Amino acid sequence: MIKIAPSILSADFANLERDIRRVSSADWLHVDVMDGHFVPNITIGVPVVKSIRKCTDFFLDVHLMIEKPARYVEAFAKAGADLLSVHLEADGPAGIAEALRAMDDCGIKKAVALRPITAPRAILPYLEQLDMVLVMTVEPGFGGQAFMDSQLDTIAQVRSLIDRVNPSCRLEVDGGINAKTAPRVIQAGADTLVAGSAVYGAADPSVVISALRG
Ligand code: DX5
Ligand code: ZN
Repeated sequence: MIKIAPSILSADFANLERDIRRVSSADWLHVDVMDGHFVPNITIGVPVVKSIRKCTDFFLDVHLMIEKPARYVEAFAKAGADLLSVHLEADGPAGIAEALRAMDDCGIKKAVALRPITAPRAILPYLEQLDMVLVMTVEPGFGGQAFMDSQLDTIAQVRSLIDRVNPSCRLEVDGGINAKTAPRVIQAGADTLVAGSAVYGAADPSVVISALRG
């Protein structure tokens, strides 16, 4: 089953509750956390996730674009995240292992994320224990960028590693997903689609959400 996760990065932060309601036909809510170091943008942090948790039952898919993410796993879990994605480029192997252990201790779902430059095989040391792999289809940092066609091959390679090692692991794609690119990423093996500008730029987000499902 394909899951659609609207990214609130394209929502109006002054009307966040309203904009979360606007995507109620979706499956998950994608929350982009950026620290101004790992990526050249600053967005939201723990207090906002806590407030979102109070106003929705959505599964909160929290994408951490922050350096040394292990430091913040417990805080985001306590704030109400259901799943955390940590970037493989955001720390060394020991730090990534520590972040995943902290997610286990907090009882939340675990994912690793890959920048476009990162080779699919980088997921192998962790894959057996993961609930999801997030493949970026743009450079992380901003919404509204163009989909990178070159990532279709990465998606296909990650799909074959998942099928071989841990078939129940989900494969999420994030960046430039719209009604045109969605069928291509699904064809390449994605089962979870993040979309920000395509969903929030639409007059009726629910029409786009059902179109993305294919
Ligand atoms: C980018 C974020 C994405 C972003 C996607 O770094 O991780 O989740 O919101 O936005 P669109 O769908 O507009 O590319
Ligand atoms: Zn994201």
